[in-house]
Amino acid sequence: MKPSILVARAVFPEVLQKLAQHFEVESNQSDETWSKAQLTDKLRDKAGAFTTGTDRIDAEVLAACPQLKICANMAVGYNNFDIAAMTAAGVLATNTPDVLTETTADFGFALMMATARRMTESEHYLRAGQWTKWSYDMFAGSDIHGATLGILGMGRIGQGIAKRGAHGFGMNVVYHNRSRLDAASEAACKARYVSKEELLKTADHLVLVLPYSAASHHAIGAAELAQMKPTATLVNIARGGIVDDAALAAALRDRRIAAAGLDVFEGEPAVHPDLLTVPNVVLTPHIASASVPTRLAMANLAADNLIAFFTQGKALTPLNAA
Ligand code: DGY
Repeated sequence: MKPSILVARAVFPEVLQKLAQHFEVESNQSDETWSKAQLTDKLRDKAGAFTTGTDRIDAEVLAACPQLKICANMAVGYNNFDIAAMTAAGVLATNTPDVLTETTADFGFALMMATARRMTESEHYLRAGQWTKWSYDMFAGSDIHGATLGILGMGRIGQGIAKRGAHGFGMNVVYHNRSRLDAASEAACKARYVSKEELLKTADHLVLVLPYSAASHHAIGAAELAQMKPTATLVNIARGGIVDDAALAAALRDRRIAAAGLDVFEGEPAVHPDLLTVPNVVLTPHIASASVPTRLAMANLAADNLIAFFTQGKALTPLNAA
């Protein structure tokens, strides 16, 4: 008998077909939003789960699902998993590293450029019929080329953004990370390691690419924003909760920093109402990895983790040693 799995969100039909060759699949192709109780109920008799970052797997869910052996997340981030609880329950966690690195770095760079050059703000102005004449300072923003690019969180995606900035745009790259990169990686990114304080004070464009955890909660709050240059831009493609969104909206409103580009939000899909009223922010709905080939690669890797685990006893990209 095939093991039974739950695919908790809608996914590419071809990936679902591949899973159906190996598993009894209960899917959610209508992409209903399930409460935690509904998700738990659907998982109760399953051996595996294909999840996304919106599906919380914690001790409470695990206690109700004793047959569960593996949760394969279709995301590189896995803050929806309580890894300690999963390990204690003997449930393997997997994610989708590498396949999204370049696509996400492309987007981070694009969001930084759109923010610095005030692209959405000026487009709204044009669409509203307010453009009646040219003027010397109309939507004048800040430059990317030759500017100082600061990166907080220098994993694979951070390094991808650093390389784009250093090699493509002649940027001066500084970074801060829990651990310093080796010399070869620093050289490849032309990046200089600095303290968080120096990063905040020197960056013309600060991009956040660190994972979310209790330690990184509100890593950028009022105190950190106060240390940034008034001309600086801030870009968050990491996770909501890393930035204190209320403090950021106040800093944008008072022009204590120039602009922000946000792909992720505290409590998303809700967006702090003050962010919706300030003009100097570019807002996108958590789409940094959303190119068609990359989303397909992520879905395939999550599926392949389930298949490899059940057919060969070993997942491809495990996060714990359950
Ligand atoms: C990721 O892979 O972590 C992206 O944020 C998509 O959820």
